[in-house]
Amino acid sequence: MAEHYFSNRELSYTYHVSVATVYNWIESAKNGKLDLELYKHNGRSYVRKTASNIATLDRLVKERKKYRNRKTVKEITPRDEFFDVYSEGQRYDVVVNLEKYREVDCELNYFDSGADNWDKYVKRLATEDSSNITETLKLLGMSTEFLDELTRDYDKVNIVDIGVGNAMPVRGLIEHFLESEKLGRYMGLDISREMLDIAKRNIKEWFGGSVQFEDYILDIKRERFGQLLAEDYLKEERVANIVLFLGGTSNNFRNPDEAFRTISESLRKDDIFIYTSKLDTDNTRSSIDFSAGDTSNTLMDPIVRFVFDLLNIDEKLYEVEKGYDEELKQRYLRIRLTSAVTMNFEFDPGKQVLEFDKGDRILFWRAWHMTPKDVYERLENNGFYMLNANQTPDRQYVLTISQIRQD
Ligand SMILES: C[S@@+](CC[C@H](N)C(=O)[O-])C[C@H]1O[C@@H](n2cnc3c(N)ncnc32)[C@H](O)[C@@H]1O
Repeated sequence: MAEHYFSNRELSYTYHVSVATVYNWIESAKNGKLDLELYKHNGRSYVRKTASNIATLDRLVKERKKYRNRKTVKEITPRDEFFDVYSEGQRYDVVVNLEKYREVDCELNYFDSGADNWDKYVKRLATEDSSNITETLKLLGMSTEFLDELTRDYDKVNIVDIGVGNAMPVRGLIEHFLESEKLGRYMGLDISREMLDIAKRNIKEWFGGSVQFEDYILDIKRERFGQLLAEDYLKEERVANIVLFLGGTSNNFRNPDEAFRTISESLRKDDIFIYTSKLDTDNTRSSIDFSAGDTSNTLMDPIVRFVFDLLNIDEKLYEVEKGYDEELKQRYLRIRLTSAVTMNFEFDPGKQVLEFDKGDRILFWRAWHMTPKDVYERLENNGFYMLNANQTPDRQYVLTISQIRQD
């Protein structure tokens, strides 16, 4: 059937427009704002290959060119710090993700002074009654008995903290195993050097020399970490590993399954995996407050402000949109361009230019929403077997304890 309709990628190549522009056309056609005949297949809509559609597409492309030639296009060049903070590979990913998905990866905000933003934000949350941090601490506290049972026959317990943040949520758990004289190694795995430095500083402040912090820079979406634990399997004493993935880190990823798969492939048979997440409720759908307590009148929220500022997008060029998308089941924070824009990125071999139309949207942050069943299925689909789950009484946060499925 492929010959009767254009794939979105084919349209993008043929007409030299982004896939996002193709989606915009399809959305407009669905809403009756554009005269394109669509073909529905597996719940998705595509543009039919008809003479009238091809004429409409030619007209759209011509209008677009005329519009862009009217000198209304604003040029954007990222700040120098953009080139200092991110590696060439990361900068290249920014270009590719902007081009393919019209989005900027939110994990880029934890770099450099962005790590301090997160630290301040978590410190503010720690003073609130019901927040990501206070609820995670509560849920972890309620789980220690179960963890003691699971690790009863072991001499030592290692804690591996993936996406360590400022290490505040794990403080109580470290204390617990220190007190029972079972604490082995504490390892922080994070994409950001600066975040690891903040965590290291905190561990030193809280525990002096009694806890050694091992830090590893790694992208959990694609880098396994099993080798970090290998030396302990060879020791005579029996060492358990508790691997933490707290604070809903993967909810911000484009494809969270990538991280879950990498983690499950890094674990051995008896390793224990703890995952916490916000749950989908009316309340969590409507909450999107990222201020660090200050009242600065910024248009984009501070949590995504770091990469946003480095990209150097003038505030006259966009409107902020934030909310909950019922269809995708995600909260989002994005901008809608109020002018056509060209972004210029310099690389050693030459310049990469991205074109955006007026009305194009760029996503800067997302949080996938999950019900308890979705959480269970995510674990199950990625090779985990869930042993235990706790929710806060208000049903807004969940903590799960799993091991690898053994079949
Ligand atoms: C939402 S914070 C959670 C921090 C902490 N676990 C908590 O619960 O407060 C996300 C953390 O994961 C890190 N991170 C984000 N993306 C990552 C990735 N792809 N690989 C490794 N770490 C990542 C960030 O630098 C940050 O420290």
